Amino acid sequence: MDRLTVLSPAKLNLVLDVLEKRPDGFHELRTVFERISLADRMTLTPYAGGQIRVRCDHPQVPQDSRNLAFKAAALLKENFHVKSGIDINIIKNIPVAAGLAGGSSNAASVLMGLNRLWSLGLDTKQLVRYAQRLGSDVAFFLYNSSFALGTGRGDLIEPLKARTKLWHVLVTPRVKMYTAEVFTRLKLKLTNKKDNVNILLPFLRTGDIKGLAGALSNDLEPVILSLRPEFFYLKRKLLDAGATGVCFSGSGPSVLALVQSQKHALSLRGKFDRRYNQVFVVSTL
Ligand code: C5P
Repeated sequence: MDRLTVLSPAKLNLVLDVLEKRPDGFHELRTVFERISLADRMTLTPYAGGQIRVRCDHPQVPQDSRNLAFKAAALLKENFHVKSGIDINIIKNIPVAAGLAGGSSNAASVLMGLNRLWSLGLDTKQLVRYAQRLGSDVAFFLYNSSFALGTGRGDLIEPLKARTKLWHVLVTPRVKMYTAEVFTRLKLKLTNKKDNVNILLPFLRTGDIKGLAGALSNDLEPVILSLRPEFFYLKRKLLDAGATGVCFSGSGPSVLALVQSQKHALSLRGKFDRRYNQVFVVSTL
């Protein structure tokens, strides 16, 4: 095979329950992932020179060994003693450090792409073990599933059978949020904890948008709002403009607005100021 071009999609978290801090420093999560149509385009080209080379058109994405896609390639190259090199080209559409797991998705695309290009014969379970060494969000993207339940660090994936196609307006303020900082500032409330995943799942299975809107939740929201109190007004504005429900994705700052239809999404998008925000109409992929 000459080269491989793939779409590397973003994710949203419809629910993010943080259960406890673990001895390894990570937090135990229960989350519902949704794969969405906003995607980077990646091209993997075998390269005789033996090195791993990353190119990306986004100025804030490192093009060296700090890049998660580079790390994914290095992991497989070392483990399987692959002599040939690889050129990884990333056209970035997913905002960086925005709660959308763009870098994790790129890493998963490299694992799956090199599995094919280098004929490694790894199955999903084996790929997951490499994904877990790269980051908590990487494993979800290895599954060909629009929705999935994530437990553990978010890296234990159970695909969900829901056939629902959701529409969203995704608003990403032009500020970065650092996942580690958000988790560090979290003060866990361990009493009377609701199981927000099980509240949401029946609505997801039946495609009940109003029910889903009421069930969106993110335990990291108090921390995100303490770091950026102005995001409270962003959520408010989305609701006032007609969003059915709103919620932060991951550790923010992206806010997902759940809407009834594509038409509804397009009309809502028109009401948002693009100077301060990146605004996308996206659907379940
Ligand atoms: O796994 P990933 O590299 O995406 O995580 C970034 C940081 O977010 C971790 O170093 C950790 O501080 C925090 N985190 C956490 N619990 C999780 C996932 C991430 O505390 N389940």
